[in-house]
Amino acid sequence: MDRNEAKARIEELRAVLWENSKRYYVENAPTMSDFDYDHLMRELEDLENEWPEFYSPDSPTQKVGSDLEDGPAAQQGFVQREHRYPMLSLANTYSREEIEEFAARADKLLEGREFSYCCELKFDGTSICLTYKGGKLVRALTRGDGRMGDDVTENVMRIANIPHELKGDYPDEFEIRGEILMPYSSFDHLNQQRLDNEDQPFANPRNAASGSLKLLDPDEVGRRGLYCTLYHIPAQSLASDSALASTHSGLLEKAASWGLPVSEYNKVCHGIEEILAYIDYWDTERKKLPYATDGIVIKINELDWQRELGFTAKSPRWAVAYKFKAEQALAKVLSIDYQVGRTGAVTPVANLSPVLLSGTIVKRATLNNADQMAILDIRIGDMVYVEKGGEIIPKITAVELSQRPADSQPVEFPVECPDCHTPLKRGEGEAKWFCPNTDGCPMQIKGRLLHFMSRKAMNIIAGDATVDQLYNLGLAHTPADLYDLKASQLMTLEGWKEKSAKRFIDSLRESVKVPFERVLFALGIRYVGEQTAREVARHFGDIDAIAAASEEELAAVKDVGDVIAGSIFEYMSDARHAIEIQRLRGYGLKFAVDGGAQSVLSEALKDQTIVVSGNFSCSRETLKDLIARHGGRNSGSVSAKTSFLLAGIKPGPEKVKKCQELGIRIVSEDEFWEMLPEGSRIDSSDESEPTLF
Ligand code: IVH
Repeated sequence: MDRNEAKARIEELRAVLWENSKRYYVENAPTMSDFDYDHLMRELEDLENEWPEFYSPDSPTQKVGSDLEDGPAAQQGFVQREHRYPMLSLANTYSREEIEEFAARADKLLEGREFSYCCELKFDGTSICLTYKGGKLVRALTRGDGRMGDDVTENVMRIANIPHELKGDYPDEFEIRGEILMPYSSFDHLNQQRLDNEDQPFANPRNAASGSLKLLDPDEVGRRGLYCTLYHIPAQSLASDSALASTHSGLLEKAASWGLPVSEYNKVCHGIEEILAYIDYWDTERKKLPYATDGIVIKINELDWQRELGFTAKSPRWAVAYKFKAEQALAKVLSIDYQVGRTGAVTPVANLSPVLLSGTIVKRATLNNADQMAILDIRIGDMVYVEKGGEIIPKITAVELSQRPADSQPVEFPVECPDCHTPLKRGEGEAKWFCPNTDGCPMQIKGRLLHFMSRKAMNIIAGDATVDQLYNLGLAHTPADLYDLKASQLMTLEGWKEKSAKRFIDSLRESVKVPFERVLFALGIRYVGEQTAREVARHFGDIDAIAAASEEELAAVKDVGDVIAGSIFEYMSDARHAIEIQRLRGYGLKFAVDGGAQSVLSEALKDQTIVVSGNFSCSRETLKDLIARHGGRNSGSVSAKTSFLLAGIKPGPEKVKKCQELGIRIVSEDEFWEMLPEGSRIDSSDESEPTLF
């Protein structure tokens, strides 16, 4: 690999890892398995070591993933606070050899000194930092970005096994860290409820735990059946002369004696043999536990040696995590479908005999691409190993050749698009085959519409069936066509009623308020995920500046490398895209970041700094956008500079308290509308026929 290739790969890996880290920690909806994520991180680490000139303090190798909302988490109703001591991550590996190497290094570094290891389960939830003062629980912060966390004290108070008061000989003030988990039983119950309410179910208990901890309603948190286990008292958090214990396991025993929930499965091990035996035991036994674990954590037990070894930027040198590979199941391949995505990429997907895997029934699994199929030499009738990562669709990792039917035949990857029959193409260095019929291939057209309408993009309420229908009737080919639709027209179509037509048109109408960064994401430019769209939107400010930018200028944006820059440039150079953007603009969609010249409505809120918190008759995003367009400034947290708190239903209690302390006015939604010029009110229950369409 030469210098340029290394640079490009480093950029690409950083972008992919940041995007996924955000999906994992912020949105609780990862699309990549932990295993793949860890592998890409390792590849990036190796490349950065090999090419130190490309070192960047902003690289994901140098930072822990952040669960803080982009922008102020306060918009979610939480106050962000600084951690007294950074909350770090753990170095991890899937290889037993690397655990042996860790132990060998420890032997060498601590040569001649007595030491042991504390082996623990690696709990698969979301981390938490608790502070006890005078024996009382006074604060609970999420990990956040490791430096600042969200204050979720009220919510944590509702978790049944976390004591509000301690007993025994506890220190006057200390911090203890651990994990909030959602046991499988609570997870199944919650997902059933969500399905009944037509809400998207959580992909796994970890996401459900993390999502639940950040709910705005503490009573609901209490109903979610969360569970806590604690595993770390930062040594700095105790007085330096503390004679509490000289080992980590000793400290945890103390914590248990004060009534804190500490795992009963921790084990002090002497030497690598005992560590490996612990790993082997829990590799199978963990399946009997009522909550998810994803590995083993091995910590040097003596606090003195821990202090001596210290930390890297991201993790302690005295600990390592051994991660278990995802659970596997054996299933039969019944048939293979070839799905054409919105970019034209063809993905083979196997239909399987149903199997139970990590608590859910699996019937389909992805095969990724033609190479993967060829490497596996997968055949209809084969028994295959299926594995679930972060994504909802599991993947096939191996074929059990001993069970292959004698008469099975190799599978040929199609040479033409399964939908429009255009011969498939594959670019140099590309892993996937593509259907080049961008404008005519129904699957691509429908895929682009679905992407545009998706929740993270324009949030237009419609599913596959609606898109099929609109496409088949020739009513929608491109996103701009959607905005031509009228309620009266939809009501004449099969399956539509007045209510569903109104709901659809209302959500289209609401979508024009979606901020520019999401509109940019909704356009579906290849490689431009949410994170990249946000960076590009903020960097350039509006679509005209993006369209006018050179590839070099695009590549200067944070997290955008040559590959992404090339893709944006190509998209913007296409006249058809310019026409589509022009049409969407005509329908009022945002093509500039808020506060841009086009969006000013009045000066009613000039010089006012406003904090929005709670639930309203329209989305908080809409309100913030309106505030900006009426000349106000949005702020995430209450301070002396705040003009007023715009409080909806259930505003963040900390914010309300702070306003009361500082004597800052609290304004209701109705009062807010009064402040704006007549006719500004947005009411989602408006019964009148939309005028925009
Ligand atoms: S110790 C400074 N022990 O794994 C060391 N972490 O991938 C702090 N985790 O952020 C961590 N079980 O959320 C530790 N027994 C355990 C753990 C554990 C789960 C989590 C924790 C950490 C993450 C790192």
